[in-house]
Amino acid sequence: MVKVDVYLSQSLIQDEMQLKDRNVIVIDVLRASSTILTALVNQAKEIIPAESVSVAARISKGLGNSVLCGERNGKIIEGFKLGNSPFEYTTDAVKGKTLIFSTTNGTISVTKSKFAKNCVVAGFLNMSAVVNYAASLNDDVTILCSGKLNDFCIEDSIAAGMIINGLMDIKGKSNVELYDSGYMSYKLAKHLAYRNSKPDRGKLLSMLADSEHGKYLASIGFGDDLKYCAELDKLDKLPFYRNGVIKLKETFEQEASEKSKMKRVNISSKPNSKD
Ligand code: MLT
Repeated sequence: MVKVDVYLSQSLIQDEMQLKDRNVIVIDVLRASSTILTALVNQAKEIIPAESVSVAARISKGLGNSVLCGERNGKIIEGFKLGNSPFEYTTDAVKGKTLIFSTTNGTISVTKSKFAKNCVVAGFLNMSAVVNYAASLNDDVTILCSGKLNDFCIEDSIAAGMIINGLMDIKGKSNVELYDSGYMSYKLAKHLAYRNSKPDRGKLLSMLADSEHGKYLASIGFGDDLKYCAELDKLDKLPFYRNGVIKLKETFEQEASEKSKMKRVNISSKPNSKD
């Protein structure tokens, strides 16, 4: 039996210890999750999430090849290089760079997960990758919806419900235990994200277009971002948050294997004490 609990807003995490040793899935469909994924797929070196503008500025002072990125009220922060539209995060703009990233809700959720056992960032763009990863854990999962301004938002809850639906498909419905927020998300996703029992991009896009934050983003000129963020399974990648930075799972794995190779070389090149 796998238990899945869902927090409908990051504001429900008042103490980082609440997430200690948990398998956390952070969601901010519009738009931090989608932007983080896009930046890493376009070869950003790493992303350092910052909970506030002043923390972001402080981190950037100590770092060389870094770029200040993020938004407040959906718009680029004054003095920062990039905002929070995934379209800004092209290979040209981000390749090889450390991005220091601060958004209104999404990066707060990520930094609140600093004591998690595992923390992965999820959106519609990498939904199947996240579901398969969550199923492979064979362990309880905590889904943290970023929400909007300390409150619920529909798109994150739908994404949580899709993860639950996917987990039930793999593990069997009776093997997934839910609390009320998860049950509500699961039912909501069934209505607003599926057609003939299959996830449907058109339905996702209409839901985003009808959502409070979707309407706001469209009103300030980011209507195309909604279309992009609704592209189900466009990016088959898993951004992980570990030791203060977000990188793709394979990047962390590659670094770990290089480290262990170096260790082996060091050990075997030590002079034999009998010689
Ligand atoms: C957030 O973290 O609240 C956002 O990603 C808002 C946005 O820029 O759409």
